[in-house]
Amino acid sequence: MNTAHKDKRYVGRDLPAMLLNITGSEGNYLIAADGKRYLDFMMGWCVGNIGWGNKEVKKRLRNYKGPDYVNPGYLYAPWAELAELLSKITPGKLSKSFRATGGTEAVEIALQAAMSHTKRHKFISIEGSYHGHSIGAMSVGASYFRDWYKNLLFHCHKIKPPLDAEAAAKVEKLLAKGDIAALIMEPVICNLGVLIPEKEFMRRVQQACKKYGTLLVMDEVATGFGRTGKLFASEYYKLQPDIMCLAKGITGGYGGLGATIMTEKVAKSMEFDFSFYSTFGWHPLAVEAATANIKFLLKNKNKILRNTLRMEKYFVDRLKKMHFRYPAEIRIKGLAIGVEFKDPNYAAEITEKCMHSGLLFSTLGSNTFTLFPTLTIDKKTAKAGLDILEKCV
Ligand SMILES: Cc1ncc(COP(=O)(O)O)c(C=O)c1O
Repeated sequence: MNTAHKDKRYVGRDLPAMLLNITGSEGNYLIAADGKRYLDFMMGWCVGNIGWGNKEVKKRLRNYKGPDYVNPGYLYAPWAELAELLSKITPGKLSKSFRATGGTEAVEIALQAAMSHTKRHKFISIEGSYHGHSIGAMSVGASYFRDWYKNLLFHCHKIKPPLDAEAAAKVEKLLAKGDIAALIMEPVICNLGVLIPEKEFMRRVQQACKKYGTLLVMDEVATGFGRTGKLFASEYYKLQPDIMCLAKGITGGYGGLGATIMTEKVAKSMEFDFSFYSTFGWHPLAVEAATANIKFLLKNKNKILRNTLRMEKYFVDRLKKMHFRYPAEIRIKGLAIGVEFKDPNYAAEITEKCMHSGLLFSTLGSNTFTLFPTLTIDKKTAKAGLDILEKCV
């Protein structure tokens, strides 16, 4: 039985697998079983921010000599070190990290902490958004999840984009009732094709949350660790969230790990027996990966962020000049890039054609495609990918 057949028979999936059998990765490329190299403009969807095969991270992982596993109840120095590192680099007063296995769990912890802290159980989020696939995370995600899970999902008000002054007024009105535990959103919404909220919206939302005792939760699972040209996209809005969710780029793909970092005050509300537990949350190998990845990012921070902004300009210039068959709305923040068409199928058609021509990225629905290349990409590689895209549009 070949891999495609075995996968079809034994691997549970939402949709059939794309017929791309990945056997290796290197820099900006994924390598398939037939030896073909694919230029990767998806990078695991905001995971591989520093590229695949980073020598420093791989060396640290190869040399790891610590315990195979540590039970969450014990002390383990690398946990304290990673948590301290996160507290130093995240904005505002975020200081205590809860140990998760990935983004969904990081969001779950955030929702639990918000309920625990405020003694409220209603939420606000952005319509159409995505925060993971647990029952809690789906409750604050797009309304269509309710079609499948009905009453299992808890109540959450959804604010419809655009995120402007009118939307801010809606949030203020809802918050004034005084019964909302938290507002959760991505500061730049990658899951809505890189939707960028207006500064006025974010300013008023933050102010209203403070006024009415609602926690502000920034989900930086996708935007974190340099993706938008700042270490965290919250920095663009000078946000001081009460809770921040992190995953994906936290390890750069070299391990599986999530974190929910919160203020000391909110973390105090989680100090009761069994408030949260995750057997594999911050597994030692994943912690090693996260620490090495973040250290690499910090050591090269100026260079990487400068490159991200320089390449942002190059991508936007090239995309604006492309002769798309339908009018395109190009949204870009750093190297988070979304291109949306009015035509319902065009983005999916382009994505498919590009894959056959050796360039990988993904669609959101079938009318938007997103590009998330490495933050370390050079102009020659960016040009090679954009040339393929140009030929396929
Ligand atoms: C913004 C955001 N939050 C949460 C998640 C869930 O993360 P994970 O897939 O690691 O559970 C995702 C995943 O795409 C995401 O983009």
